[in-house]
Amino acid sequence: MHIVHAATAVTVLLATHADARPEGKTLQARAYQQAKPALGWNSWNAFGCNGGSANAAMTAANQFKSLGLLALGYNYVNIDDCWTSSARDSSGNLQADPSKWPHGVASVATTLHGMGLKFGLYGDAGEKTCAGHPGSGGHETQDAKLLSSWGVDFWKYDNCYTNCNGQYPQTCWGVSRSTKAWYQPMGTALAAVSHPILFSLCSWGQDNVWTWGKTVGGSSWRMANDISDSWSSVASIANAAAGIASYAGPDGFNDLDMLEIGNGGLSAAEERAHFGLWAIAKSPLIIGTDLSKISASSLAILKNAGLIAINQDSLGKAASYFHPKNVAGPTSGQLYPYWAGPLSDGVVLGLVASNGAQSFTVNFADVPGLGAGSFAWKEMYSGKTGTGTTVSISLASHDMAVYKVTKS
Ligand code: GLA
Repeated sequence: MHIVHAATAVTVLLATHADARPEGKTLQARAYQQAKPALGWNSWNAFGCNGGSANAAMTAANQFKSLGLLALGYNYVNIDDCWTSSARDSSGNLQADPSKWPHGVASVATTLHGMGLKFGLYGDAGEKTCAGHPGSGGHETQDAKLLSSWGVDFWKYDNCYTNCNGQYPQTCWGVSRSTKAWYQPMGTALAAVSHPILFSLCSWGQDNVWTWGKTVGGSSWRMANDISDSWSSVASIANAAAGIASYAGPDGFNDLDMLEIGNGGLSAAEERAHFGLWAIAKSPLIIGTDLSKISASSLAILKNAGLIAINQDSLGKAASYFHPKNVAGPTSGQLYPYWAGPLSDGVVLGLVASNGAQSFTVNFADVPGLGAGSFAWKEMYSGKTGTGTTVSISLASHDMAVYKVTKS
């Protein structure tokens, strides 16, 4: 995976003048710059608060090896909310709940590193995390140093209990103060520590985070509210992502949220569409299920090497809607079937049967980045290949086909 640790003295100096620059053009020390979307697993969707333990991390790490996920590039094992004790220690440090981390956090990080994996933790920009554990607001420098000393590689940073309009503590919704104000201090603190830590913003799309996430050091930013294990949630997040595709990559990505594949609320077709949409939107692909219970069908979707390669393509550009001639255009608020985006060596074309079973014929001449003439294609779920000026497929309701199209 191509990575750059950007916390150099030069960039820190440039950051001194950051506030004088216009929004979106800030030259800012980056916490850690990863040129591709993160691939990994997070405890929350499967286990909620119960997943905040060393045992959950070690179990997932072993499953990454035994299920062949590490070999496919999944390398972050991330623990979400509820890993700390209910209060900071006498020095003001966050402390891992000793009943859940009997040997501390650093020993887990070291073990995971020895397995070729990376280790992530979760915190919050406000007074408390969303589940009520200590937040990092006002403790950014101290907490970044602690994370670095433990060898933590990934820091998901949530937006609960932030001091947004004086009614402290509370969670901000629709207030005028910019969310950026409470993400910036942690970005600056992470840029100054010695261990590279990826900064994953979890600000739920507030204040158009995609326009400033990179300037506070973010490698990715949640662009919507929490996903749920349902087709309507998947479709609504994907539709929102289409509108902000131009803000993705190559080194800061729209995070569509952790995957629900394997959790039971989606049909096999819907799981294919979920993974296909997240992959082509260049979202981090963070598995969110109990890997000890995953079905062969769900695991095969997560292990689709062609889709992982599209997600990790070096160009890092997200796919979005395109409107073919002779079909109706997108309707506001609804998932549209036709997706395309550039790849370093071709174009990705996605087709989603978003309104029930549908037969598609797409002229490559209508697809952005293609044009007149014959092209070679490969569909990522069936493995089928072909050449020509068009491609056709019939899809069951909510199913998806993803084609990589190249010059023939
Ligand atoms: C918020 C986040 C979720 C998860 C929970 C944990 O809702 O958006 O992804 O981290 O908090 O409490």
